[in-house]
Amino acid sequence: MDLGVDIKSILEEIEKVSSLSDLYQLKVKYLGKKGIISQLNKNLKDIESDKRAEFGKKIHELRVLFENSYDEKEKALKEIERKQKLASEKIDITLPGFPINYGSIHPITKVYNEIVDIFTAMGFEVATGPEIESDFYNFEALNIPKAHPARDMQDTFYISEEVLLRTHTSPVQIRTMLEQKPPVKIIAPGKVYRCDSDVTHTPMFHQVEGLLVDEKVTFGDLKGTLTLFIKRLFGDDVPVRFRPSFFPFTEPSAEVDMGCVICNSKGCRVCKNTGWLEILGCGMVHPNVFKSVGYDSQKYRGYAFGMGIERITMLKFGINDLRLFFENNMKFLSQF
Ligand code: PHE
Repeated sequence: MDLGVDIKSILEEIEKVSSLSDLYQLKVKYLGKKGIISQLNKNLKDIESDKRAEFGKKIHELRVLFENSYDEKEKALKEIERKQKLASEKIDITLPGFPINYGSIHPITKVYNEIVDIFTAMGFEVATGPEIESDFYNFEALNIPKAHPARDMQDTFYISEEVLLRTHTSPVQIRTMLEQKPPVKIIAPGKVYRCDSDVTHTPMFHQVEGLLVDEKVTFGDLKGTLTLFIKRLFGDDVPVRFRPSFFPFTEPSAEVDMGCVICNSKGCRVCKNTGWLEILGCGMVHPNVFKSVGYDSQKYRGYAFGMGIERITMLKFGINDLRLFFENNMKFLSQF
């Protein structure tokens, strides 16, 4: 008995299909509501009753045959599709990636933070002030009157006759003392500006200054604090000495040297064969400074100190060219 369909050609039809969407079309064509195989089922009722069972069985066989080869084809096409997708999304993981440059802390910032840490651990508070200053805070109140020769020491960038870029962070001391009564125990880190540019000078550099005011402050306290500071920064074994010096805002004044860390005090180009390196200026606060901020210099004593961070950083890391700090060369900077 014949179903009236060519099974072989149906299977060939499935076999020839090359896309999933075409395959789904075939499903509609044969198994859809009006599909050819479905139609056969509908016709079943018109078949003579004695042949109906056999006819039904054949339709069923046809359907199973169709479904099996359909499923097989679907599987094969899906696999092809998957492979194509994978191929199109393929990433060559053997290609070298783009290197990521990690940032690092600038050596100046590093030493700046270290200095701040050492002093805050000793109880100093960090004070800040503006980089654009008035003549009063930068000079007058620090016992440097207009005609004072010490103004020449600080090649000042003037904005107008009264306004300038601060040449040191000492104006922060004045601002702090005008704002608060003793005791005062601050450090003032920050940028300062001097009209000077050569191998050992840049127009902008960093300083940390310190100020301590209280009733019984002595030069011995100053010596102890700075000696401890230098040893914390450069190691316990480094020798430290104080030399008399001059600053208008301190009296007496001193400069502090430490044993040359480059040659271990043996004498080299950096320490000019002296075995010593100057790293700090300091002294006892001048009574005129107290006067200008309204502190009673009979009652209070104070010490102050100041240092350049670039110089200390160069000594700490053995860097011999100041300009390296400002060129932003990644190779240089990433070493720290
Ligand atoms: N302000 C001084 C300078 O910049 C440094 C200093 C500060 C010296 C405090 C003594 C006391 O040169």
